[in-house]
Amino acid sequence: MNTSALTPNAWEAAYLRFESPDQETRKFVRRLSRFGASRWPRDAQIVELFCGRGNGLRALANLGFTRVEGIDLSAALARQYSGPGRVIIGDCRHLPFENESRDVLIVQGGLHHLPTLPGDLETTLGEARRVLKRGGLFCAVEPWLTPFLSLVHWVCENQLARRLLPKIDALATMIEHERETYDQWLAQPQEILATFGRFFQRERTHVRMGKLIFVGHKFFN
Ligand SMILES: C[S@@+](CC[C@H](N)C(=O)[O-])C[C@H]1O[C@@H](n2cnc3c(N)ncnc32)[C@H](O)[C@@H]1O
Repeated sequence: MNTSALTPNAWEAAYLRFESPDQETRKFVRRLSRFGASRWPRDAQIVELFCGRGNGLRALANLGFTRVEGIDLSAALARQYSGPGRVIIGDCRHLPFENESRDVLIVQGGLHHLPTLPGDLETTLGEARRVLKRGGLFCAVEPWLTPFLSLVHWVCENQLARRLLPKIDALATMIEHERETYDQWLAQPQEILATFGRFFQRERTHVRMGKLIFVGHKFFN
């Protein structure tokens, strides 16, 4: 492997300092409860797409799930994972899993990194649908342009806030480095919801604190 791929780039370095692994794992545990994870069988086969350094897998393990995997493009982030699950380095637009082989797929803040909309979103959701068993669950949480998120953006533009608040500086740095795909994502809410609805039977959508939560099933027919 190219060793430079193991050194975090500017976005990855900001992501790593945004939250500690424990903070992130606790956040993911809260999100999993919003997805309805308390009702999922503990031996469900679960994959976290765009899993970063794998704290979503840790959250799942903390809740008692025993068959967890993750996939992320970044070797520098994936190598930080240590735990009972398996993390694969790969592109979520081409999932290395067999058809109808998994019960639950989760995305936490990955789809807004896709370079083209709707093309890459359709490809990724198509892959997710292919891999899910019939009736399998697709859960996503992604940034959503609410008044709260606009306020966060405003704070991120304030140099004093960035100097005083390391978390704001890390977030502002991440946004700067993902600007193109982030802005593209935030500008197309109706198209994105319509695309989710074409691939999955919507169970629930919820917008809260600058995030969209989507939970849907793979159609049975
Ligand atoms: C905001 S992080 C999400 C990590 C974690 N789920 C979280 O919520 O903090 C976005 C992740 O998407 C990964 N990524 C971007 N494009 C990808 C792709 N096409 N396939 C797989 N991972 C990708 C990046 O390496 C990064 O780890």
